[in-house]
Amino acid sequence: MPLRLGDIAPDFKAETTEGTLQFHDWLGNGWGVLFSHPKDYTPVCTTELGTVAKLKEQFDKRGVQCIAISVDSIREHHGWIGDINETQNTRVNFPVIADPDRTVANLYDMIHPNADDTLTVRSVFIIGPDKKIKLTLTYPASTGRNFAEILRVIDSLQLAAKHKVATPANWEDGQDCIIMTSVKDEDIPSLFPKGSRKIKPYLRYTPQPNK
Ligand code: BEZ
Repeated sequence: MPLRLGDIAPDFKAETTEGTLQFHDWLGNGWGVLFSHPKDYTPVCTTELGTVAKLKEQFDKRGVQCIAISVDSIREHHGWIGDINETQNTRVNFPVIADPDRTVANLYDMIHPNADDTLTVRSVFIIGPDKKIKLTLTYPASTGRNFAEILRVIDSLQLAAKHKVATPANWEDGQDCIIMTSVKDEDIPSLFPKGSRKIKPYLRYTPQPNK
């Protein structure tokens, strides 16, 4: 059964480039991004891990730790990280899980046999402080992911965790938000003191509450 939003992210013990870790302990009370790549020493994956390394400050600001995984070995990871650092002008600053026996890949359903029966697809799991899965994404091997989009989703998730709002299509941090339909009109002034706009009874906007 595939993992679904709201499920507890399965715990596991794994070897990584930064030592052995127990996933839930490593997550602690923060947010996490677990993302798989198909294979070490491949071009798209090289740009992806370099991009995540360069975004560390952005992930840190949001209290999010990133961790990558593929079915390659620790030895391969270490060698390839040298190439990533060299070609992407960065330093890989997050752990990369070595999963040659596919324990974690199978636990998270990261191998899609009709796409490739040995390599992981490009999966992303955003995990909240409650260890629940908040987002899943699956990209094919030929398409590198947009990690600015991952940060954008994290901004939306963290906002919705604290305020009774959702975010509209293409929303970016700082833009108006949608008031949840569960909020009664009469409660809007106290919950959203910055004001509101009512377009339809179910479509009400407010300035971003945490800005
Ligand atoms: C890549 O990262 O470029 C890649 C990896 C596996 C299959 C195809 C492309």
